[in-house]
Amino acid sequence: MKVDVLLGLQWGDEGKGKIVDVLTPSYDTIARFQGGPNAGHTLEFGGKKYVLRSVPSGIFQGNKTNIIGNGVVLDPALFKIEVEALEQSGHKLTERLLISKKAHLILPTHRLLDKCYEAAKGDAKIGTTGKGIGPTYTDKVSRNGMRVGDILHNFDQKYAAVKERHIKIFEQHNFDYSELEKIEAEWFEGLDKLKEFAFVDSEHLINDQIKSGKKILAEGAQGTMLDIDFGSYPFVTSSSTVCAGSCIGLGIPPHQIGEVYGIFKAYCTRVGSGPFPTELHEETGEKIRKIGFEFGAVTGRPRRCGWVDLVALRYAILLDGVTKLIMTKSDVLDSFDTIQACVAYKIGDEETRDFPYEIDNVEPVYKEFPGWKKDMTKMTSESQFPKEFSDYIAFLESELGVPVAIVSLGPDREQTIVRG
Ligand code: GDP
Ligand code: IMO
Ligand code: MG
Repeated sequence: MKVDVLLGLQWGDEGKGKIVDVLTPSYDTIARFQGGPNAGHTLEFGGKKYVLRSVPSGIFQGNKTNIIGNGVVLDPALFKIEVEALEQSGHKLTERLLISKKAHLILPTHRLLDKCYEAAKGDAKIGTTGKGIGPTYTDKVSRNGMRVGDILHNFDQKYAAVKERHIKIFEQHNFDYSELEKIEAEWFEGLDKLKEFAFVDSEHLINDQIKSGKKILAEGAQGTMLDIDFGSYPFVTSSSTVCAGSCIGLGIPPHQIGEVYGIFKAYCTRVGSGPFPTELHEETGEKIRKIGFEFGAVTGRPRRCGWVDLVALRYAILLDGVTKLIMTKSDVLDSFDTIQACVAYKIGDEETRDFPYEIDNVEPVYKEFPGWKKDMTKMTSESQFPKEFSDYIAFLESELGVPVAIVSLGPDREQTIVRG
């Protein structure tokens, strides 16, 4: 049995959490493979809303195994808050959430380093989520990091050495780290909570599951346009968000990857700094933000909104090897007279359909479509789709070369249509 992967094709917040939850009944195991609490994955069902940051989105449907893989970075303090909130709402996780020993720990000083480096960048700041993601992955790659497995091996000595090194950096930057003591106290409480969970060699576990015919879904965080190699560098996150990242972040051989679900919004959003060719600065952008409730699940920041960008989507599909597309939030456009899709970029006098090295100075070339002007949020089958919407999907499929297998028409689990 091969491992299926679900990942975002834009700049994050495509609705990954919702769709993973919808797909969970078809799987035995759900595994996160990269990122950390910079993610905010929202799920809604039974009139309740949940936002998951480090916990995989497969915890609500049946007693499935959920894994935090080696590619993830984990902050025990935020993990404790997340897990306790879930416990309070009746979702006990210790029996079914397993954590890779090789996942890296976001230390209290990593969170402060994130702040320190952002402040040092001035106007060129990335607009990170401030969760210590970049500094933790930096320490991982420079071989200075601490892993979950270290909690059981000589922890105090290793922690003191890393902390001392980070404090030297604060001092070099004249950075006020007086918050450290408070953050540390919460962090160590979080560590106690983390110790209630099983630390595992998840690469062995996952490969054993593959051999025994179990179905695994790898859940991505962020989106392809935030990938460290292929995203709009340097305005990206610090992990491999592309499909290949699932192999590295879980220890899966590439030939064991099956379906690749690429998820995108019917429009496009971005949080933080960086180029965004189809961004709408006027009232249409404001309208999308309002109807789509486009505010960050983690930071509450307003998300920048714009039209769907098919040049960027084609690039993401190419990199990820997407086999099935999932389109979310089409319902947000229900009241629009016309909608637009960027089909090419203009660079000077030249037009291109290929994603260029830099997207700072490209001008989107749009194709306009008539709006469907119908409330689609209560529709239960594809046969109810307005003709304009079906035509639009057919256009997307021909432009992108991959079928749209699922359409999401609202935040609730039930508002999902699997196409025949
Ligand atoms: P993720 O990070 O990819 O899991 O996405 P987020 O949870 O950060 O952002 C997606 C937002 O859109 C959440 O508030 C979801 O509840 C909501 N959502 C997901 N799918 C749909 C949809 O089809 N229509 C509408 N209106 N909202 C949706
Ligand atoms: P989910 O999984 C949207 C963005 C930040 C910033 C950049 C770097 O919910 O889709 P980082 O804290 O990772 O160093 O920030 O990446 N970013 C996200 N944007 N959704 C996310 O996750 C994001 N995670 C990081 O806003 O621009
Ligand atoms: Mg999100």
